[in-house]
Amino acid sequence: MGARRFGLHAMTGSNVLNPDYFAAVTERLLDLAAEIKRCLDIDLECVNIGGGFGVPYRPEEKSLDLERVAQGVRRAFDRHCRAGFKEPALMAEPGRLIGADAGWLIGRVHVVKQGYRRFVGIDAGMNDLPRPAIYGAYHHLSVLPRRKRKTAVKPEKVNVVGRLCENNDQFAKDRLLPRVEVGDVIVIHNAGAHAYAMGHNYNNRLRSAEYLLTRRGALRRIRRAETMEDLFRTTGIQADF
Ligand SMILES: Cc1ncc(COP(=O)(O)O)c(C=O)c1O
Repeated sequence: MGARRFGLHAMTGSNVLNPDYFAAVTERLLDLAAEIKRCLDIDLECVNIGGGFGVPYRPEEKSLDLERVAQGVRRAFDRHCRAGFKEPALMAEPGRLIGADAGWLIGRVHVVKQGYRRFVGIDAGMNDLPRPAIYGAYHHLSVLPRRKRKTAVKPEKVNVVGRLCENNDQFAKDRLLPRVEVGDVIVIHNAGAHAYAMGHNYNNRLRSAEYLLTRRGALRRIRRAETMEDLFRTTGIQADF
């Protein structure tokens, strides 16, 4: 067909914390590269082992041992790339690893309701961070109380929920948290990857602003919050809100 340049790409796992996994993926791709060389005499320019570099979402989880990942991948290359087999460039897509723990979704508690469970409603929703709703994913939560509690209160099990009229608009179910009051802030951890980028305007919810915490501790707005005008921008209607 006229193609002259070739590479291999795989995306085989997601949020993997086992360092040996990446050497195994590299082995498989390099086996395939060797077969392609043998059968077609094609030298691959690159082998892309994809994403999957996990981050600890739960406090008890350990960070991925990157040194061990690198050693395993290097060993796989050393085993395969001998005389007659040109070493392809190694590529990877470790976006989550770079970004996840650099972002927090911040929501303020606007309602606490005691029903068949205790519900804590915040002014963010699954449209801001869809992972819990889509995958049942765990995101760690911290509570920043609006005012200091006078007496120590026992932690309690709550469901932390968003504002959408959907049963799965929940950031946490049966989560043990310090007692929460209206006005407190809930900090949702690991929202720097697969969060804003997965977000959406479901039910015409507006996307939030984004702030950068600088090294000096200042907050700089790097994205403004959406407005109703933004929602109508593509209609050609001049909305007057
Ligand atoms: C092609 C590709 N690369 C990278 C990623 C990122 O995966 P992860 O964040 O699990 O590392 C994905 C996620 O779906 C993907 O489809």
